[in-house]
Amino acid sequence: MGREKIIKNLQVRVRHADPVHIIADFDYSFIQHGNTPLVNMTNSGKYNSILPPEASPGIDLPLCSCYSLVSIMKNRADSRINLIESLSRRKFLFGSLAFSGAVFADAWLRQPTDLEVSQTRLPISKIPSGKELRVVHLSDLHLHRYDRYFRQVAAATSTLNPDLILLTGDYVEEARNLSGVLDFLAQLKAPAGVFAVQGNWEYWALIEGKNLRDKFRSKGVELLINQRADIDYKGVAISILGIDFPSPSGSVQQLNDAAEKSRVNIALSHVPAFQHEIMDDTSDLILCGHTHGGQVRLPMLKPFHLPRHSGRFVDGLYRVGKKDTPLYVTRGIGTSIMPLRFFCPPEINLIRLVGV
Ligand SMILES: [Fe+2]
Repeated sequence: MGREKIIKNLQVRVRHADPVHIIADFDYSFIQHGNTPLVNMTNSGKYNSILPPEASPGIDLPLCSCYSLVSIMKNRADSRINLIESLSRRKFLFGSLAFSGAVFADAWLRQPTDLEVSQTRLPISKIPSGKELRVVHLSDLHLHRYDRYFRQVAAATSTLNPDLILLTGDYVEEARNLSGVLDFLAQLKAPAGVFAVQGNWEYWALIEGKNLRDKFRSKGVELLINQRADIDYKGVAISILGIDFPSPSGSVQQLNDAAEKSRVNIALSHVPAFQHEIMDDTSDLILCGHTHGGQVRLPMLKPFHLPRHSGRFVDGLYRVGKKDTPLYVTRGIGTSIMPLRFFCPPEINLIRLVGV
């Protein structure tokens, strides 16, 4: 065999008519960078150097024949390179498109309904030791139809055996979908009650206020509009402080002033940046939604977008105020604006308030 130096993984091998005798080996880049191989060989006087060891100098090959062979092989090699590059480009393009399509389909068709149940255990000193209050927190339904997915959400909620179900707003995006929300709400059952507050979308869909409260009440859900609801359940005195959207500081202050510190005070607000500082130390737990956790994310990176009034909150458990009050922001159930989720699954949040 002749000396082989493959630079671009392509070798041009010139053979004599007798295929056993290789008379020249070139790597492609050698041909590519020289003027022509033959001229190089002739000029450099290295004609013999490209002959393989087994090719004796006695081979009778006219220079012009060699030149022709080399030229033909060079053209073939160029064609092959062009073909390979063209196929590689097509493969890359097709692969990229197929990958992007698969990612988009997953973010559109699977991930928005890939429901996750998160569980958080919080010790509360106002709850007697040995007792536990199971709170299921749902938010941001953005329901278009009461379909299979929402039946699954209702069933999963029921499976968690909640004592109390709390909802933090954004039930619809359009008033015409309210009947589906009411069908969904009718499925939610908890012995200590189901309580809700309004989000920004209730205002944008123009369904907010007393009418909505009456409709929710007909399904067993108490909608709190800057109101407090008291429950006494299993010997535990609980107050739900329902903060409306928007939440001017006056309303938050009034609720805070009316709260009794001896009760377990659970504040509900659609948005997490609602001047919670006013009631951080009165509340034992603050529940919020609104952010959707960013909805479309990449691992380890901050969300691309968070809506106004999210503040520093994205999702999960935070601690606020002098008492390190737990403030939980759920990723919610539905999707907003774009029907997509990516690395940010929808969430049912079970919070176990345990006595200490
Ligand atoms: Fe929302």
